[in-house]
Amino acid sequence: GRCVVAVDGPSGSGKSTVSRRLAATLGAQYLDTGAMYRAVTWAVLTSGIDPHDAEAVAKVAGELDLDVGTDPTEPHVCVDGTPVDRAIRGPEVTAAVSAVAAVPWVRQLLVAQQRKIIAAVGRIVVEGRDIGTVVAPDAELKVYLTASADARARRRSAENAADLVATAADLDRRDRLDSTRAADPLQQAADAVVLDTTELGIDEVVARLRGMLDG
Ligand code: CDP
Repeated sequence: GRCVVAVDGPSGSGKSTVSRRLAATLGAQYLDTGAMYRAVTWAVLTSGIDPHDAEAVAKVAGELDLDVGTDPTEPHVCVDGTPVDRAIRGPEVTAAVSAVAAVPWVRQLLVAQQRKIIAAVGRIVVEGRDIGTVVAPDAELKVYLTASADARARRRSAENAADLVATAADLDRRDRLDSTRAADPLQQAADAVVLDTTELGIDEVVARLRGMLDG
């Protein structure tokens, strides 16, 4: 039957790895909503538009064809037929994505697309910032993953082979932008299970979530 798991939290909390593995072990689909905001940002930058020009950003978002895969073993995202999986992880997109994600019309478009995908698939683990609060408030399980700022910066800089101090500064900047914006800020749903992953390995987190779904 239907089983929607909402996984929210800040960068470096382990969301992506945990969500993909949980989906794979459940035989469910997986949706990375952050990749969608990153793909729109890639299109904005590629068009030479200022990511802070909300009107121009909204126009680009409305015109592009965004295709996002839901296979947890092989996530992919295409903009107008071009695969952008690598480009959307680059520093240019990372620096601009929070500005683009703050544009209300961009969020309306992407949330509508996300809800359609969830409704079509039925069994799915969805990760993002506003899944338990806005995209799927009726999810069967809502999880909010956190970790200390230190641990998050260490994980993210190891993943990207990037400088630790610069990574910590970027996470801090995005955390602030993402949690203080007017439209759908990063927020814990009142009924979310909060897991601090600072001292927990991926397997441990996945096992606990599986336990919650079985029980
Ligand atoms: O990979 P990382 O955890 O750093 O971020 P992400 O999940 O790829 O999301 C990138 C950015 O997209 C976030 O910093 C948010 O600004 C935005 N985002 C959002 O606003 N709402 C979501 N549901 C997912 C991402």
